[in-house]
Amino acid sequence: MTNQQLGIAVLGLGRVGPAHVRVIAENPRARLVAIAEVDETKRGGVAANYPDCAALVDYRDVLARADVQAVIICLPHWLHTRAAVDAVQAGKHVLIEKPLATSVEECEQIAEVVRTSNVTFTVGHTQHFYPIVAKAKQILDDGRIGRPIMAIDSWYKPYEPEKRPAWMLDRKRGGGMLLMDGTHMIDRLLWHLGGRVEAVKAMNGNPVYPEIPADDTAMAFLQFDNGIVATLSRIAYRTGITQYGADYFGTNGQVKYRLPYGQHGEVGLWVGQNELWEPIAVAANNPLADQFDAFLDAIEQGTKPAVSVEHGLEVIRVMAAIERSAETGREIVLAGRA
Ligand SMILES: NC(=O)c1ccc[n+]([C@@H]2O[C@H](COP(=O)([O-])OP(=O)(O)OC[C@H]3O[C@@H](n4cnc5c(N)ncnc54)[C@H](O)[C@@H]3O)[C@@H](O)[C@H]2O)c1
Repeated sequence: MTNQQLGIAVLGLGRVGPAHVRVIAENPRARLVAIAEVDETKRGGVAANYPDCAALVDYRDVLARADVQAVIICLPHWLHTRAAVDAVQAGKHVLIEKPLATSVEECEQIAEVVRTSNVTFTVGHTQHFYPIVAKAKQILDDGRIGRPIMAIDSWYKPYEPEKRPAWMLDRKRGGGMLLMDGTHMIDRLLWHLGGRVEAVKAMNGNPVYPEIPADDTAMAFLQFDNGIVATLSRIAYRTGITQYGADYFGTNGQVKYRLPYGQHGEVGLWVGQNELWEPIAVAANNPLADQFDAFLDAIEQGTKPAVSVEHGLEVIRVMAAIERSAETGREIVLAGRA
């Protein structure tokens, strides 16, 4: 370990935690010093590959260690608030997996603790580090398609509930596909289009799997305070065909991108003008590795991270408005807007 290497810990080693562990182990600027996981098999499986790393059960024992400067929180959604607040109060820099938390109130609680701390805090909205999504943002900002007018963001994918952890199938514990994937879509729409969402009309429910107490389907109409309108449609299907991406329409053309989900789906980025799609070449990368590098940059340079706690909170404000609109059947105007 060199003096410059930051000591990092990963909390939660389910589906995504081990990918963060690998990213840390491969980064010369950091050192994996601890992991926390309540499940013995998962903990042991990761620990076997990293004998110098402390493998602990209780994440609070990780936070008590002086050699841990930063943590990556990969816990179930219902534990995000408690772990984030504990980590910040222990003086650790934090990269928390999306979504920031499961309600506006919980996100505000985290944001308040972060505001009064000296730590770097970022939310793992990985879409910012997908090369295709980032390039689409650049094209929109460059003005190539003129002034953006509207966007259609869609994500259709297999639900496969048998492969998911139980908490993800229970909205009371932070489950449901709106929190899981809808937050990715809200994040990229907010990032790409700028401005704030001022009103929402939505459907959100579980028509595909009515036996599961969490949403599998949502469609929302979002009205931005900069005049742009967007739709978000996502479905976790029993059987169907994958689609994952967005279409943007401006005063001078279109941009569309498609990402792969699993091994399926069309992939690419295109600008549409004069009745032709021009493919835009984009180099591949590892989004989690780039996200981690950006986190280290922000810690080392004391700069604002690419995805702030306020952005994470804003994503959940829109998500909550979608849920409220679906429950009430009415348009929801976000407080203080419109
Ligand atoms: N950025 C992405 O593309 C992406 C992809 C998948 C998941 N995620 C996010 O990552 C997070 C974790 O999701 P997941 O799919 O890995 O969930 P998961 O349920 O597979 O993993 C969570 C792990 O935390 C462990 N755990 C529970 N309580 C604990 C505690 N008190 N202390 C230590 N460990 C504990 C569980 O045993 C489990 O192994 C979520 O926020 C999810 O939205 C992000």
